[in-house]
Amino acid sequence: MSQRVRLGVNIDHVATIRNARGVSYPDPARAAVVALEAGADGITAHLREDRRHISDADIENLAAMLRERGRPLNLEMAVTSEMLEIALKHRPHAVCLVPERREERTTEGGLDVLGGHNWITPFVEKLSANGSRVSLFIGADPAQIEAATRTGAAVVELHTGAYCDAARDGQTEEAEKLLVGLRAGATQAASLGLEVHAGHGIDYETVAPIAAIPEVAELNIGHFLVGEAIFVGLADAVTEMRARIDAARAGA
Ligand code: PXP
Repeated sequence: MSQRVRLGVNIDHVATIRNARGVSYPDPARAAVVALEAGADGITAHLREDRRHISDADIENLAAMLRERGRPLNLEMAVTSEMLEIALKHRPHAVCLVPERREERTTEGGLDVLGGHNWITPFVEKLSANGSRVSLFIGADPAQIEAATRTGAAVVELHTGAYCDAARDGQTEEAEKLLVGLRAGATQAASLGLEVHAGHGIDYETVAPIAAIPEVAELNIGHFLVGEAIFVGLADAVTEMRARIDAARAGA
């Protein structure tokens, strides 16, 4: 099968634990270093409008630290002028545009690129012109994928949350149907010239079928790894995830 799948480790929930106490530890930047040393290719962080986990100072630290190490920062953000200003200032390697609603526990659905085409496209243009590679977080819906190409974005990240939830809940048929949709979405997106990423809700059990989709170039994984780190440590959790990704891509 084709080339190695990159692993972006999302360290948001290290900040969630820190913020539960309002102190300075555990430090997401320290977690980022551990993840990189254990086999992550890059670091992903979501600066939410309500700052419930990652803070502005975290983004500043991560951007500087990763630039120094020559490793990519993937900044996830809502499509707002406040976030645009921050992204333009820090010029992360990648920006993933995501939908955001304050009341949600996590990013529950994909971006409506079809409906929001007119306001998303200028964000893609400004961020790309500033040197960031722009990705749109969308469901594996043919109309959304087609609309993504018209924004000028280089990348789509397919939302794997529904598939992962169904697989974990033992809804085998539903999970298979959603996996078929993800495969078709990846094929469509790649055929339209988009780089394909995938993420949300991925754990040790669900990673293999997703990593085996040949068009998938990058996976972004966070919550499960931070949870697993409680039991085995972050380095071991990332190492194990990396091994499962590589085995799936090798067809093992
Ligand atoms: N990709 C995107 C666009 C996300 O919004 C998130 C969650 O912040 C992830 C990947 C990682 O999801 P999880 O934390 O469930 O692994």
